[in-house]
Amino acid sequence: MNIKILEKLDKEFSSHKSCLRNALEAGQGHIFRWWDEITSREKKHLLEQISSIDFQFVKKLFRDRLRKVTNRTKGRFVPPKVITPPANDFERNVEQNVRKVGEEALRERKIAVLTVAGGHGTRLGSNGPKGTLPIAPISGKSIFQLHAEKIHAIQKRYDTYIPWYIMTSETNNHITQAFFKENQFFRLDPQQISFFTQGMLPAVDLHGNLLMSSKSNIVMSPNGHGGTIIALKGKGILNDMKRCGVKEIFYHQVDNVLIKIADPVFVGYHLKDGAEMSLKVVKKCHPEEKVGVVVCLNGCLQIIEYSELSREDMYAENDDGALKYNAGSIAVHMINIDFLEKVYQKGETLPYHAAIKKVPYINSNGVLINPERDNAVKFESFIFDMLKHVKKGVITEVLRQDEFSPVKNVEGENSPVTAKQDMVNLFGRWLCNAGVSIPTDSQGNVIGLIEINPFFALDAEELKSKIDKTLKFNGFLSL
Ligand code: UD1
Repeated sequence: MNIKILEKLDKEFSSHKSCLRNALEAGQGHIFRWWDEITSREKKHLLEQISSIDFQFVKKLFRDRLRKVTNRTKGRFVPPKVITPPANDFERNVEQNVRKVGEEALRERKIAVLTVAGGHGTRLGSNGPKGTLPIAPISGKSIFQLHAEKIHAIQKRYDTYIPWYIMTSETNNHITQAFFKENQFFRLDPQQISFFTQGMLPAVDLHGNLLMSSKSNIVMSPNGHGGTIIALKGKGILNDMKRCGVKEIFYHQVDNVLIKIADPVFVGYHLKDGAEMSLKVVKKCHPEEKVGVVVCLNGCLQIIEYSELSREDMYAENDDGALKYNAGSIAVHMINIDFLEKVYQKGETLPYHAAIKKVPYINSNGVLINPERDNAVKFESFIFDMLKHVKKGVITEVLRQDEFSPVKNVEGENSPVTAKQDMVNLFGRWLCNAGVSIPTDSQGNVIGLIEINPFFALDAEELKSKIDKTLKFNGFLSL
């Protein structure tokens, strides 16, 4: 069958000969099963996909997949040193001084924002990019708009300019960019927003065979946010940043609606310590919460992803009964650009992690199957694996209710419903702090709806300075 295919392909698409051979040599001949049935346009698409795949690399990733879990979770790691939220006037004073360092860096235009938005949002089952999800409690603004307005408000506050880089994937890049255009870039300067795409890798079945989602399409998925470094360097973005005088990147995931973008306190801690990469954490809310935990292994910081943490470590407790590995990463980092460049120049590659997932595919009869059980392996590299190169890193603990509410699931924990409520509760606390009485239910949730535009107030202090002290909350407030 293979020779016959090659002869046919030779005639039709001679320029693709070598990549076809690679596919066949790697034992992936089944992807040509429907060659005679598909149109020439579809053939071209399939060949383009095949040309982008390093088949031997995928084979190696599949072979290595079993080794990684044991490697990562072995060894004597210990909880890391964490800067906790200020608990007294002295600590509040320290924080104020640190804030000034961050504010200065913002004024000097040294900070760029990088949002990773290349994921498929599989758990959310959404059709579009996560950032386009309408989420604001009253206005229904999208997640992207919330981020854009925070950036805009910070620019105004510090009379600065913040370049914003958004990493998408091939699957959602077009639609993401179209969304920004349709919305006039949310009143930001279009020149300050740059989109770039990360790489893709094929998903394979549990025997290592490539999966097809149609007779002419191989299932590909984003190669993880670890691909950011290669993309930043390879696409000239690091040089672009340097030309603009940017020294540090504020990195975050698209899905956290409470994100304090370019938080000057965090920037300040990172700069004050001359850190290469810094992290924000929250206390885990239960042992099985799906967040990576930050640990220290032989003096180096490391994040162990929730899927790779052993049950023993997940439930380990201190003498006082508190969780031992409690520093849950909210995937907010400061990254020094020179450090990034050094890692890249050393040619260091980040390891790939294998995730076993349910992936729809077509079977050998060409019938689309929506599997009920995990049937596929996806490979991703994680940006936080760069931590092994970090000599100086700062970890700051922040309050979950102030800074972490990601949208991951359709319903229940970390869903659009909880994200909206968390925003309303945050604004409610800001109002209470300003002396406005806000009713809450037995769970502590605000009764009613509140939305505060970042242009009106970016934080509790700003709100307090602007709010009419005689304001009576009647269950609905949009500022
Ligand atoms: C992620 C973190 C986890 C952290 C948690 C906090 C990873 C591997 N794990 O888990 O340590 O505690 O968030 O919410 O990141 N993305 C890309 N490209 C990809 C894959 C993902 O840009 O190839 C982006 C997504 O768009 C999203 C983010 O990365 O913004 C996180 O991806 P997701 O799959 O939701 O990670 P979690 O499993 O929730």
